[in-house]
Amino acid sequence: MPVTVHPLSPAIGAEIRGVDISGRIGEATFSIIHQAWLDHGVLLFRGQSLDAEQQRAFVSLFGTIGVRSAALPHKRPRAFEGPDYNADAMLVSNIRKDGKPIGVLPDGEMWFHHDMCYSPTPNRASFLYSIEIPSHGGETHFASMYAAFERLPERLKARIEGRRVLQAFDEVQDARLDLSRIPLEDVKHAWQPLVIRHPETGRKALYVNRLMSHRIEGLSEAESDALLEELFTYGEDPAVRYEHVWKVGDLVMWDNLCSMHARTDFPRTERRLMRRFTIAGGPVTAA
Ligand code: OGA
Ligand code: MN
Repeated sequence: MPVTVHPLSPAIGAEIRGVDISGRIGEATFSIIHQAWLDHGVLLFRGQSLDAEQQRAFVSLFGTIGVRSAALPHKRPRAFEGPDYNADAMLVSNIRKDGKPIGVLPDGEMWFHHDMCYSPTPNRASFLYSIEIPSHGGETHFASMYAAFERLPERLKARIEGRRVLQAFDEVQDARLDLSRIPLEDVKHAWQPLVIRHPETGRKALYVNRLMSHRIEGLSEAESDALLEELFTYGEDPAVRYEHVWKVGDLVMWDNLCSMHARTDFPRTERRLMRRFTIAGGPVTAA
């Protein structure tokens, strides 16, 4: 079967058809997939049947398998077992065993974010494979941060280029941290460029998101809040988004530098189970 690339929206995402990613991927097929990934930022493979080892093998074609961001010392490690345990995998799930979630990001809505932007070396990419899904909700939205940057008026580009932004996160999925109450040392955080240059495509991307971006360097708090809100609006504009409605057997991979993502709410009473691997990344480069 020929491998084909089908865009999922004008700004971001493509479905790859005609490939079974559980097996060996030839060089020609890999180069089609890799180019599509650079072109579209998010790739979808439907109808896959992957155990943890097969998923790990596919992911490792794209780089070094990433590790989870280490919990700060005062944070208890979470229960991290489940079906088909693999030390490199992370389960994203609301399923509970002895009252404790078997995975991370268990319930409900999650605001737009870039994975690990609060780390000096965020993961380069994430690969989420769906095993169990609720009857409705739990969709994942992706936004092209290339398109968000390109759509900014020149006056905004001029205001943000060369600036840094404080990225911080502490477990809460659907509210911003109140950094006037929480000491920065108590949460994972990093100052990052507000506009980044993608290491492979050379394109500029906006690097802010509603959940984790807190403060723009060199501005008053009020100016920073107002500018961030304006930038969030560009990033979350439906014109730059793709909404993924999951089916069991979907593998979605996203580039964490040129895209951000969010999850919609879903019933707490229904099970959702995803298996995630990541690719490690280096320091983020300013545009
Ligand atoms: C993640 C994430 C969204 C989802 O795994 O990083 O944000 O739909 N997941 O579960
Ligand atoms: Mn995420």
